Amino acid sequence: METTLQNTEFLEQIFGIVEGPFHLLEPESFAHNLTEFENILQKHQVSGHVFYAKKANKAAIWLKVAALFNGFADVASIAEFAHALACGIKGTHIGVSGAAKSNDLLQLACQHNALVAIDALDELQRALETADVTQPLRILLRVLPPEFPDSRFGLNPADLQIALQKCVENSHLITMEGFSFHLDGYDVLPCAKLGFQLIEQCLEARKMGLAAHSISIGGGFACAYTTKEHWDNFQKNLNPAQFHGGKTFTKFYPYHQAPTGAVMLDAILQSKKGEQNFAQALNQADITLLMEPGRALLNGAGLSVFPVQGFKQNDAHGIITVAGLSMSLSEQWKASEFLPDPYLVQRGKEREQQPILACIGGSSCMEYDMLSWRKISFPARPRYGDLIIYPNTAGYQMDKNESTFHQLPLPPKVIVWLNENGLDWSMDQ
Ligand SMILES: Cc1ncc(COP(=O)(O)O)c(C=O)c1O
Repeated sequence: METTLQNTEFLEQIFGIVEGPFHLLEPESFAHNLTEFENILQKHQVSGHVFYAKKANKAAIWLKVAALFNGFADVASIAEFAHALACGIKGTHIGVSGAAKSNDLLQLACQHNALVAIDALDELQRALETADVTQPLRILLRVLPPEFPDSRFGLNPADLQIALQKCVENSHLITMEGFSFHLDGYDVLPCAKLGFQLIEQCLEARKMGLAAHSISIGGGFACAYTTKEHWDNFQKNLNPAQFHGGKTFTKFYPYHQAPTGAVMLDAILQSKKGEQNFAQALNQADITLLMEPGRALLNGAGLSVFPVQGFKQNDAHGIITVAGLSMSLSEQWKASEFLPDPYLVQRGKEREQQPILACIGGSSCMEYDMLSWRKISFPARPRYGDLIIYPNTAGYQMDKNESTFHQLPLPPKVIVWLNENGLDWSMDQ
């Protein structure tokens, strides 16, 4: 994405057509991230599948790229399921996670031989009833992580035993392929620890006659959105005076983490229990490792462009208003702040280069529609028609919360790629 960012002529060309805010998507970065995950599986000679967690971005292009790799997708609704199929993902390569799936979604999964992570006993019962009138269903049993006992997702140990028994009794309707979890956090050790535990549980389940050949460790692969130095400095110098209106925040996303993405998968697979690492334990038990990264596959694969619609000086700092809304930057909807600094593309006649500090608001009537509360340093005073570019927005930022408030159109998504003639683009369909 850095090449795109530096190519202001290209951005201006797209702006000339779109005439409003837009998002840029870079499929090559997604393909690169996906390949890195696959490479780590190969390095450890672990049998595994990377399900792209589609919820992280609504665009079709990611699914189409995954399909080119004969890839897998994790979905959580009928619309996501249908989108994955329409973009070329095979039904058998679709995983259905999420809370309390509707009967229609269960039926869709049955008909396409998809893999459903069962989250509760009543859901298992409905899955059995659906399979009875459709065809047998492939399932994983999602476990409640012992380290997060208050999670609303997963079966607790008592329910898990009941579920296993039901799977045994209904083996003509259900193929119990293994277990799954998704941890709320980005730590290697809890993930490996629960992974080791589930290998044991697969071996126990096999004794009951169940297939139990797979474990899904969910998503939650970390990303680094800023350098360590930037993140450390931000936290150390945190002060309400840095923000418009003296705004305070209680929580920020961990914008710098390590290890990230596929390197985190490597660290999980290298985690040891006794003499054996997780990869060896999986191989010894002949278990296929499934994972559902969303954010990490989209890392560095998208950015968001907002045209400047106005600027005013407010005491010592300025207020930029952009065309577009803060709904296109979801972090702002968690009473928090998106930390990567936006860039200013200056357009039109040359102007005096006098650095200024400014916060950035959206073009709505709401006080709280702010894309950046913090006072960001820009090299010159922004003016109408300039572009503000937020980097790295593909994972959960650009479209998770978007709405057409004020009847403003949703920012279109533009796919960019490099060919022999330079940058080329098309609209996401
Ligand atoms: C079950 C499940 N799988 C995968 C993911 C994707 O997580 P991430 O985008 O952090 O990799 C989520 C996110 O909420 C999830 O709930």
